[in-house]
Amino acid sequence: MTLWYAPNPVPYRPHPATWHQPLHLHLAPMWKHLTRVLPTLRGRVLDVGCGTKPYRALFSEAVTDYVGLDREGPNSAPDVVGDAHALPFDDASFDAAVSFQVLEHVERPVECLREIARVVRPGGEVVITVPGVWPDHEVPHDHWRFTRYGLEASLRAVGLERVEVVPLGGLWSTLGQMACLELNRSWPGRQLIPLVNLTARALDGTAREALVMNWLVHARRPA
Ligand SMILES: C[S@@+](CC[C@H](N)C(=O)[O-])C[C@H]1O[C@@H](n2cnc3c(N)ncnc32)[C@H](O)[C@@H]1O
Repeated sequence: MTLWYAPNPVPYRPHPATWHQPLHLHLAPMWKHLTRVLPTLRGRVLDVGCGTKPYRALFSEAVTDYVGLDREGPNSAPDVVGDAHALPFDDASFDAAVSFQVLEHVERPVECLREIARVVRPGGEVVITVPGVWPDHEVPHDHWRFTRYGLEASLRAVGLERVEVVPLGGLWSTLGQMACLELNRSWPGRQLIPLVNLTARALDGTAREALVMNWLVHARRPA
């Protein structure tokens, strides 16, 4: 029997997790900010490392063509199979490009960012999420974690203009989420997850920006 606990969906895919669920602190801020930013995109959109395209429904009808690129694999449903280090598209062939939780898995993230900047037209938009803190996953293809300063320097290096770099989950959310991942491994632990979620969320606003779980980067190719 569980009290307030609700499991992740099976099979797993990113979802707008409630405070009853083990990935609430990770996914709720991401979903909130992607729900704000993605509907502003228009035209032809590329999703680099699209996986199962969990955020597809958040785009508006102004997106006329949505192209998912990924490697072949059991957890991906790409329209185009390819490598983010060498995108198989012409220069300036998209109005926008997005990439969610992918750059930590590539060997050379700045090279991938440069490719993304290349295939987006002048004036086009780029929306990316990456982890700042997360346990190893998809090993051995788990290469990087990011800070605000590394992201801003990488945008400058590839000639993208920063629109916003938004922290998604601060110190308490990060600590709470790491605890929930472990608590979710046993029945007694799972009963504590809603309490940890609510406590971490309430405390998070008081924290310094010293430990950030995920980052949302919104950038633009200069016109
Ligand atoms: C953590 S999953 C994220 C999937 C999806 N974007 C999401 O948010 O659910 C990372 C994805 O990046 C893809 N990926 C990793 N390295 C890649 C590369 N070099 N080129 C293209 N896709 C890559 C993986 O195949 C996987 O689908």
